[in-house]
Amino acid sequence: MGCFPCGAKSNHNGKKQLPINNTFDHQIPSTSEKLKVNSVSNAKKDGESDHIAVRTFTFRELAAATKNFRADCHVGEGGFGRVYKGLLESTNQVVAIKQLDRNGLQGNREFLVEVLMLSMLHHPNLVNLIGYCADGDQRLLVYEYMPLGSLEDHLHDLPPDRRPLDWNTRMKIAAGAAKGLEYLHDKANPPVIYRDLKCSNILLGEDYHPKLSDFGLAKLGPVGDNTHVSTRVMGTYGYCAPEYAMTGQLTLKSDVYSFGVVLLEIITGRKAIDNSRTGGEQNLVACARPLFQDRRNFAQMVDPSLQGLYPVRGLYQALAVAAMCVQEQPNMRPLIADVVTALTYLASQKYDPETRSVQGPCTGSSTPRMRRE
Ligand SMILES: Nc1ncnc2c1ncn2[C@@H]1O[C@H](COP(=O)(O)OP(=O)(O)OP(=O)(O)O)[C@@H](O)[C@H]1O
Ligand SMILES: [Mg+2]
Repeated sequence: MGCFPCGAKSNHNGKKQLPINNTFDHQIPSTSEKLKVNSVSNAKKDGESDHIAVRTFTFRELAAATKNFRADCHVGEGGFGRVYKGLLESTNQVVAIKQLDRNGLQGNREFLVEVLMLSMLHHPNLVNLIGYCADGDQRLLVYEYMPLGSLEDHLHDLPPDRRPLDWNTRMKIAAGAAKGLEYLHDKANPPVIYRDLKCSNILLGEDYHPKLSDFGLAKLGPVGDNTHVSTRVMGTYGYCAPEYAMTGQLTLKSDVYSFGVVLLEIITGRKAIDNSRTGGEQNLVACARPLFQDRRNFAQMVDPSLQGLYPVRGLYQALAVAAMCVQEQPNMRPLIADVVTALTYLASQKYDPETRSVQGPCTGSSTPRMRRE
């Protein structure tokens, strides 16, 4: 029966396999003026142009915003460095400030990619970059503040005072994250392969509105007749598509695989890699795959913290989408646009825990069919 059901949680935090690069060898403007990024055409369909201004900050301004990076402003930490909540005096804006750890694994190259990507990409499901600081050897990124933290904070190792996410919120987050990815794949031109989709990179705003964050690993996708780009394998263990891990060949379908892992985490409440479990049970996809064969297994896969409060049909459909996304063969995985259609439909089917019934605009119809290519 594999490794479901289980409520055990662990402290695993899969980290990127990154080359060490601490040198600040790239030149970036270091003034406190506004940096005007040239007009960028990032909308394939209507050809609209966005004029985007990303601000530059002095180190002093950001130190003032965080009361000198005081411990009580510290909200999180990742491979890039520490994240602080701050208040910009000039605009009275609450922001999240990420300070590159000069001894850390992720370096200046990611800093630059993050600034360049987020300067050009704008969508309601992508986190907004307000600016950056490149004073001397300091490297800091300033983002809109996401008050509810990351999806990971709401799925794993919950503190006693935090309620588990209900079914409707889970579907809303999944649909929104898929829309962010669809923008990168289908609307950005050239397409962008995100490469680092995972629960800690899905940040939550008011009312659990999800936004993708951390573009330091993103790559411009293949252009012309090319089907893939070749790169060093980076990303986070547990979320990496098997063909990418083995060959370094990156396609949009690598992101679809990572999305499937996130969707499985959302449904099961389990971590992509759970080091508290033994051998074969550590990897979520490996545990789930045999269970996908038979729908009768599906009920035992659902997160026990939902306490049975989910629509059975919705669970089947969500697991079917996840199963398609994590298929071994990249060309068997669906296009993200079809994942968006399916999850938007599922998110519209509101489950009422009181009556244990579903109300939605199109109750009774089935999940839209998915194309693979
Ligand atoms: N814009 C933001 N608003 C609010 N909190 C944030 C913001 N960005 C990051 N955080 C918090 O800081 C934590 C660390 O984020 P960070 O992106 O540095 O690391 P990570 O995603 O956990 O790991 P990795 O470095 O492997 O991507 C997040 O989990 C989140 O709780
Ligand atoms: Mg992150």
